[in-house]
Amino acid sequence: MVKKNACIFISGNGTNLRSIILKSREYNFPANVRLVVSNRKKALGLNYAKKWSIPIFILKKNPISEIILLKTLKEKKIDIVILAGYMKILSKKFIRAFDKSIINIHPSLLPKYRGLNTFARVLRANEKKTGCTVHYVNEKLDEGKIILRKFFFIKKNDTINSLKTKTHNLEYRAYSEAIYKTLRGL
Ligand code: GRF
Repeated sequence: MVKKNACIFISGNGTNLRSIILKSREYNFPANVRLVVSNRKKALGLNYAKKWSIPIFILKKNPISEIILLKTLKEKKIDIVILAGYMKILSKKFIRAFDKSIINIHPSLLPKYRGLNTFARVLRANEKKTGCTVHYVNEKLDEGKIILRKFFFIKKNDTINSLKTKTHNLEYRAYSEAIYKTLRGL
């Protein structure tokens, strides 16, 4: 199978990045991770890129950095941008200029709970279930077409932290399935 070239954007711990890198080493996973982008040069997740010798690009605040990034994505023939805990909003210019898919994972069952602090809001609203959503990225926050959602039922003793752990564990499976679906057209 010819694998597609993926670029993963992170800002923090990068546990989704780690899970996608591990998955990409399986022969039937449709993507290889060719580049890791971070807006924070101290993001912990960059250690995973270093561990597996994947090139890193630090995206600075200035518009020139974005232009260089777009050029790098072209040079590396990147087929898909995968946002994994990337905490900045991509510029409209970037979204328009990169003409391939951009996907994101969000820790709630969209369209519910867009934005931040999802776990606290879910608990406050006494929701029965929660989970994660993988979706295409467009110019509006957390609003692109949904690729897939996965959920679990909330227990009485669940806390913000337990929901976070459970959601993260679900995200690893959801993201690899969604990447498979997106790239294989399934
Ligand atoms: C995930 O919960 C994801 O849904 C959200 O940011 C978190 C990133 O976690 N967008 P990690 O950096 O992959 O550990």
